[in-house]
Amino acid sequence: MKIKKALITAGGKGTRLRPITYVHNKHLIPMVNKPMLQYALEYVASAGIKDIGIITNPDYHDLEAVFGSGKTLGVKVTYIPQEAPLGLAHAVKIAEPFLKGEPFVYYLGDNILRGGIQTFLDAFYSLKSDCHLVLSKVRDPQRFGVPELSDNRIISIEEKPEHPKSDYAVTGIYIYNESIFEAVNAIKPSPRGELEISDAHQHLIENGKNITYSEITGWWKDTGKPEDLLEANRMLLEDVRTLIQGTTDDLSVLAGNIVLSSGSVVENSVIRGPVHIGKNCRIQNSYLGPYTCVGNGCEVVNSEIEYSILMDDSAVRYVDIRIEGSILGKSAVISKSEGIPSNHRFIIGDRSQVQIR
Ligand code: DAU
Repeated sequence: MKIKKALITAGGKGTRLRPITYVHNKHLIPMVNKPMLQYALEYVASAGIKDIGIITNPDYHDLEAVFGSGKTLGVKVTYIPQEAPLGLAHAVKIAEPFLKGEPFVYYLGDNILRGGIQTFLDAFYSLKSDCHLVLSKVRDPQRFGVPELSDNRIISIEEKPEHPKSDYAVTGIYIYNESIFEAVNAIKPSPRGELEISDAHQHLIENGKNITYSEITGWWKDTGKPEDLLEANRMLLEDVRTLIQGTTDDLSVLAGNIVLSSGSVVENSVIRGPVHIGKNCRIQNSYLGPYTCVGNGCEVVNSEIEYSILMDDSAVRYVDIRIEGSILGKSAVISKSEGIPSNHRFIIGDRSQVQIR
C-alpha cells in the first residue's frame, strides 16, 4: 500500500535550547533563514506525501501562525496537540485517529539531513518491511536509540544505553505499516516516564516483525543542543549558491557563495561565504565570515562575526572582539558601551550564556 501520510513531531519543550525556546517553539529556529521544521515538511512533500500530521506542544502558538494549513508548501497539515511530552511512542498513539491504521512516515522535526527520504521509502517497499529504520554512524551512541546488528539484521534496540551495542544511532526517520499501533499500545513508560519509540521497536522485533534499515552515509544531525544548531546550519549553508538581490558598494569585497536578499545593503565590508543574509539588513564596516546566517531586519555595524546565527531584527554594533560560534535570538542586541566608567553591561534573560575573554 502506497504511503500517503506522515507524522512529524514538533512538540517537546526544547529545554536544551533555552533561553531561545522560552519564547519560540524549537522547531521554528531558523536554519539558513528557514524554520527548522520546514525542512521536514519539504522532505516529506518531495517524496509525494502531502497529508501531514504535526505533533505540537499546546504551550506554543507560533507553529500554526507560520505554517497554517500547509497550502504554501503544497501540503495539508493537521495539528495534533500533545498534552505533555510523554514520549515519541505516545505521539504515535495520540495520532492514531489521524493515521487511521495506514502505513506512514514518522519524522522527528528536529532532524536535519541531506538528500531527502525517497530512498528510504523505496527500501521500505522493496524489502516488504513492517518497520524501516534509518541508521547513522555516530561518535556518541549513548545519546540515541542504538541497534544491535548481526548478519545485517537488527536484533535488538535500546534507548540511550550506557553500554551501546554498536556505534550506530537510530535516526529520527522511521517508516511503519499498521503493526506499530499494536506496539505503541503494548509498551509501558520507561524510567524517565516516557513511552519510548525504541521500546516499540524492540516490541516489534520480539514479535517477529520484519525490521529493516538503511544507512545514511551523508550528513544527518539531531539538533538537540546549541552546537548542533550551528553544525546543521553549517551543513545546509554548503548548498547555498550566490544570489545578490540587495546592494553592495565598491569598497566591499564579497567572496564565496553569498545570498544577499532584497532590501539589504552592504557597505565597506568583507563577506566570505557561505553566508546567507535575509531581507532589509544593514552590514556596514564589518566582516562576515563563513557559515554565518543573518536573519531579516538585522544590523551589523563595525563588527566581525563568523560561524554564527543572527535571528530576525538582531543587531551587533561597534563590538571590538570577533564573535564566533554564537546564536542571537530575535531582536537581541550586542553593542559597545559608551561613556565612563568603561564597563561591560549585560541585560540578559534566564539561562542565557555569555562567554568573555
Ligand atoms: O534524533 C534521533 C533520536 O530521537 C533517536 O535516536 C532516539 O531513539 C529517540 O528517542 C529520539 O531521542 P531524543 O532524545 O533526541 O528525542 P527528543 O526528546 O529530543 O525528541 C525528538 C523530537 O520529538 C523533537 O522534535 C521533540 C519531539 N517530541 C519529543 C517528545 C519526547 C514530541 O513532539 N513529543 C514528545 O513527547
